[in-house]
Amino acid sequence: MCIAFLIYSDNFVTLHFIMIHRKMEVFEKADLLRTQIDKLKADGMSIGFVPTMGALHQGHLSLIENARKKNDIVVASIFVNPTQFNNPNDLKNYPRDLDKDLKLLEKNNCDVVFTPSVSEIYPDENSKKSEYHFGKIVEVMEGKFRPGHFDGVANVVSRLFKIVQPDNAYFGQKDFQQYILIKILAGKYLSDLNIQVHRCPIIREPDGLAMSSRNVLLSPQQRKSAVLISQTLFWAKDNYQKLSVNELKKAITDKINADNNLKVEYIEFVTDPDLDEVNEWAKDRKIVACIAVQVGKVRLIDNVYFN
Ligand code: PAJ
Repeated sequence: MCIAFLIYSDNFVTLHFIMIHRKMEVFEKADLLRTQIDKLKADGMSIGFVPTMGALHQGHLSLIENARKKNDIVVASIFVNPTQFNNPNDLKNYPRDLDKDLKLLEKNNCDVVFTPSVSEIYPDENSKKSEYHFGKIVEVMEGKFRPGHFDGVANVVSRLFKIVQPDNAYFGQKDFQQYILIKILAGKYLSDLNIQVHRCPIIREPDGLAMSSRNVLLSPQQRKSAVLISQTLFWAKDNYQKLSVNELKKAITDKINADNNLKVEYIEFVTDPDLDEVNEWAKDRKIVACIAVQVGKVRLIDNVYFN
C-alpha cells in the first residue's frame, strides 16, 4: 500500500510517498477470510484477486504484479481443484509445494493467501456440480478433449469469487479459453458481484516455452523437445497467409509430431472472443492459434495471436 502526505516547512510544501508492506496473512477457512476482507473493504481498500492451483512460477507472479499495480490489497488462492481434472493421474501427479509457494507470494508482496481444503470448497457432493451453461465455447478445444473440465473450472472460480468478492480478478492468456469462460461467468452469471476480469500476457521461458506448473514434470529430453511447440506457433504466425487453414494445420502438426517425444492433440485457429472456428484467413477478426500437445504423460497447451 502506498500512502501520500504533504509536509509544510519554510513556506514550502513537499509531497512524500511511503510504501507500507503488510505482513502476508494466510487463511484456510472461508468465513475467516471473508471477515478480514469485509474489514479491508470497510476501510475503503480495493481488492485484486489471483486464483491459482499453486506450483507457482513467473507466469503466476506476473498476475500478482498486475494486481499489485491496480489494487490496495492483493489476494491469491492456492487450491488444486479436483473437479477440473478429467484425468485422475494428472490430479495425482500435479506438482504441490505450499511452503515454497507461500515464500514466493510473500516475496512478491501478496497480502492475503487463501489455501482451503477440498471440504472447505466442496462441503458436500452437490456442491461439486456446476450450475452454469456456456454453450459452444466449451464444446471446442479444451472442452472437447477434457470432458467436464470447464464445469469444474466455472464452479470453483464461482465459489472463490463469492468468497473473496474482489473488485478485480486476473487470469492468464496462457489459458485463453478459460479466460473467455471466466469473463462470461463474471459478466452473465455473477454480475451482482461486479468483478472486473483482466487478461495478462503469456510469460515464457527464455527459449519460448510457455511457463506452466506442469513443465517441472518433463524429463530433460522432453523439456528440450517441448520448445518446438512455441517455435512452431511463432513460425506459423510469420507464415500463416502463405498457406490455407488446413495446410497450415497439417504443417504445424507434421513439424511437431516429427519429434518422437511430442504428439499434437489439437491445433485450432479460433476468433477472439467468440472462439469461432476460422476456415479462411480474415483480417477483420482477431485470430488465435491454440494448441495442445502430449509430451510423454504431460499435456501442455499454448497459443499465439496471428494478427
Ligand atoms: P493455474 O494453472 O495455477 O493458473 C493460474 C493462473 O495463472 C491462470 O489464470 C493461468 O492462465 C495463469 N498462468 C499460468 N501460466 C501462465 C503463464 N505462463 N503466463 C501467464 N499466466 C499464466 O488456471 C488455473 O490454475 C485454474 O484453472 C484456476 C483458474 C485457478 C481454477 O482452478
